[in-house]
Amino acid sequence: MSSPKLHGQVAVVTGASSGIGRATALALARAGVQVVLAARTQATLDGVVQECAQSGTRAIAVPTDVTDEQLIAALMERAVQECGQLDILVTSAGGAAFGPIMESRTEDWDMLMNVNLRGTYLCCKSALKHMLPRKSGHILNVLSIASHMILPGSTAYTASKFGALGLTKVLAAEVRSEGIKVTAVIPGAVDTPLWDKSGGDLDRTKMLSPGDVADAMLSVIAQPAGIHTDELHLMPPLGVL
Ligand SMILES: NC(=O)c1ccc[n+]([C@@H]2O[C@H](COP(=O)([O-])OP(=O)(O)OC[C@H]3O[C@@H](n4cnc5c(N)ncnc54)[C@H](OP(=O)(O)O)[C@@H]3O)[C@@H](O)[C@H]2O)c1
Repeated sequence: MSSPKLHGQVAVVTGASSGIGRATALALARAGVQVVLAARTQATLDGVVQECAQSGTRAIAVPTDVTDEQLIAALMERAVQECGQLDILVTSAGGAAFGPIMESRTEDWDMLMNVNLRGTYLCCKSALKHMLPRKSGHILNVLSIASHMILPGSTAYTASKFGALGLTKVLAAEVRSEGIKVTAVIPGAVDTPLWDKSGGDLDRTKMLSPGDVADAMLSVIAQPAGIHTDELHLMPPLGVL
């Protein structure tokens, strides 16, 4: 549904081809926000562009690997050049790998640090270059309950998400006085393709839906200027899972 507060704003959403990022891009488009969609795979991004177009809102796909600083800078530049400004950044690009530490692979550790932590840092920094001069903007970093809670069998994932929470908190404190909001989004388990890739024998019917997570984020983005939501905790009715 179009939102008078959000209509005409411009958002960059990373991880927009799947799961929480895709659902957020679609919800933003329905609210009348121009959406710049980023992930690595052009074909899946193009599909989400088509879905956004059904809301009558402009969306563009910019294939981007969030571990590449130059590509991220080009992504933010393109948003500003083609849409005129950058109001919202949602960082939802991410990965997961689970299992006891002695069975874990160092390649997975490196990948999770690169995508979940370094990628979030790079995207925030690059977006702020465009938000700070206007003294306006809202960054929402999609973290996890693993940013707060100890879940055995998730060493690298938890380390990346604890780190990203630290990054988000410091960032919020640094730019709050500059008119920019930074929100840590802390969901429990969400029923997305992440679980197909990372394994795990969990009951997905008990998880949050990505659409509900997206709607909750939109309600925070649409809050009055005088309210700052530092952390948005979203749990399924039965708890973490
Ligand atoms: N699902 C859950 O239970 C859950 C719970 C709490 C938090 N989260 C967090 O939510 C975020 C999104 O997860 P999801 O569940 O929506 O997963 P998902 O459905 O697997 O989506 C992940 C997205 O990230 C993109 N991506 C992965 N690596 C990338 C890279 N190097 N550069 C750019 N894009 C990349 C993927 O697209 P490409 O592969 O095409 O690049 C895809 O669009 C993650 O940070 C995850 O940790 C998930």
